[in-house]
Amino acid sequence: MSEKENGSGAHYAVHWQDEDNINPPAEFIGQANMTDPGVFDRFSLDKFPECFKEFADLLDWDQYWHTTLDTSDAPCWNWFVGGKLNASYNCVDRHLAKYKNKTAIHFVPEPEDEPVVHMTYQELYQRVNETAAVLRDFCGLKAGDRVTLHLPMTPELPITMLACARLGIIHSQVFAGFSGQACGERIWDSESRVLITIDGYYRNGKLLDHKSIGDVAVEVALKEGQEVDKVLVWQRYPGKYASASPMVEGRDYFVNDLLKQYVRVRVDPVPMPAEGILFLMYTSGSTGRPKGVQHSIGGYLAYVAWMSKVIQDIHPEDVYWCMADIGWITGHSFIVYGPLAIAASSVIYEGLPTYPDAGRVWRIAEELDVNIFHTSPTLIRGLRKAGPDEPAKYNYKFKHMTTVGEPIEPEVWKWYYKVVGKGKAAIVDTWWQTETGGFLCSTIPALSPMKAGSAGPGVPGIHPIILDNDGNEIPAGAGKAGNICIKNPWPGLMQTIWKDRDRYVATYFERYCKDPNSKDWRDWPYMAGDAAVMAADGYVRILGRIDDVINVAGHRLGTKEIESAALTVEEVAEAAVIAAKDEIKGVVPDLYVSLKPGYEASQELAAKISGAVSTVVGKIARPRQVFIVPDMPKTRSGKIMRRILASISNRADVGDVTSLSNPEIVEQIRKQVQD
Ligand code: WT7
Repeated sequence: MSEKENGSGAHYAVHWQDEDNINPPAEFIGQANMTDPGVFDRFSLDKFPECFKEFADLLDWDQYWHTTLDTSDAPCWNWFVGGKLNASYNCVDRHLAKYKNKTAIHFVPEPEDEPVVHMTYQELYQRVNETAAVLRDFCGLKAGDRVTLHLPMTPELPITMLACARLGIIHSQVFAGFSGQACGERIWDSESRVLITIDGYYRNGKLLDHKSIGDVAVEVALKEGQEVDKVLVWQRYPGKYASASPMVEGRDYFVNDLLKQYVRVRVDPVPMPAEGILFLMYTSGSTGRPKGVQHSIGGYLAYVAWMSKVIQDIHPEDVYWCMADIGWITGHSFIVYGPLAIAASSVIYEGLPTYPDAGRVWRIAEELDVNIFHTSPTLIRGLRKAGPDEPAKYNYKFKHMTTVGEPIEPEVWKWYYKVVGKGKAAIVDTWWQTETGGFLCSTIPALSPMKAGSAGPGVPGIHPIILDNDGNEIPAGAGKAGNICIKNPWPGLMQTIWKDRDRYVATYFERYCKDPNSKDWRDWPYMAGDAAVMAADGYVRILGRIDDVINVAGHRLGTKEIESAALTVEEVAEAAVIAAKDEIKGVVPDLYVSLKPGYEASQELAAKISGAVSTVVGKIARPRQVFIVPDMPKTRSGKIMRRILASISNRADVGDVTSLSNPEIVEQIRKQVQD
């Protein structure tokens, strides 16, 4: 599908005004980790790739590496070759000497009458070791095996991740909000024979039954041909089972029971090759099944550690709260691996940000003395809508704030800056992706001014370029949008798509690679799949995805996945999903369907279709509205014109429709939707 048909935002750019620069507060600069303007020089392209030694040197290596970058398998890059290390050791053990008694994780349960858990590095060390013993000695898992995790936001999630990493086991954490179907497909694709879940967790005041979703996942995986032989079940309240779903004899085990055999057991961290696999993270692509984005141990960990230190400005004495879900890459990189690698105290909040009221987030910030806050535009919009004056009522002080995941409107940015940050915080708008491991564009908080709505220039070591469809560079300040690419590889970039190298090459490199046989990294610019404009000062403004992926609340959803889900309903003939603008979530899916002959539209049917999307993809994909239309607007070649449907949903001009095969349908749909 062409960019135009998909309604990609290239043409908006020209009308956008550049916002003013705002300088970081002096108090922030005074304490910042990175105040040396020479950093950009150290990471200029002529120092590539050796400059990344600075990243690797933030880690402890069991065996130091000999080759910074090996390009012989281009574009599957190998970083820090010859090196051996362990991610769990780097995030836990090595901090014991200095920070044994310091909090590693502040766990805030959703119910306000439950106490906050302040877990020290010592305690984290103990729990990771004992959990690793269960994985190794009870489950028989070893380095290179895959394990699927379907865990919500409780400390058991990072503990399980770190226990896997300790043994070189590859974890694949599936967002807890995803359905059994989605989880099962990911179990199958990753070929996991162990699923780790929990009985229940709190969300919006309710203790949800989570274990039952795992049962569905195991069934789905089995149908696809992947047998799960063990389901490990954590308990929200140890010893008290919170799920209605029966434990299957010989398959399901309570982790808390198993742990009793491993009290005080210590499991040596396994020295792993730098280019070993740390985890898989499934993300939606433009077509078909989700992609298992494969991240390395050495390159990834070095990358997120450096970014946590320099861009997040985390010091061990800070209280850092990234309010994202660990089930997404933001949580992997910036709740767990990056912060813990640099001995941070990281906050994990279990529940809904507005539970029980719009002041909850700011109360947590006040109670825990959070001074670094990190979240997404969707949550910022939601908090602004729920309680625009709430932050002023609480006595907290942020030195640093992050926005991530989608473009932020300058209006919303200004509320974040003035009201949430009380005008005292440095803000970074970090642009990156599941595939990139860590940040690509952002300001360095103490060195560069902030600009509302712009992500900033490439971070040190990242050299962005905007290309037009023919591969020509669009110069900074041209006021024209194009495809944002990164000229060079970097250590945080995924290694490949799990079991699908061809798809990796095709999705991210094919379009702009001039010589597919080249082993020179210069021939392989990374295409992110976003449309962007670069201002004269090099600051990048991201406009959105160029492929047909909808970014809802900072999470990518494949339109194809949603449409296929709708088509599982017997009555549905065609389905088209479009991105409808939404005040809170940025965009939400609107679903248009037409029916097979002989069926009639009804509210019940619309609800059934909506329900199918929730079941197959997950609640997050539930359409805002399902419109059952008499027919889809189509080109003469039969392609559904999603752009027209999007204009109708967004009450924009539908443009010239005379070339359609059925132009008359447009007005009919418009009336149905808008009147
Ligand atoms: C897509 C990646 C980044 C981790 C969370 C989402 C969009 C991300 C920004 C930003 C504008 C952004 C892009 C990107 N995006 N950050 N600061 N400004 N857009 O990870 O699910 O892999 O989604 O999110 O479109 O391609 P993801």
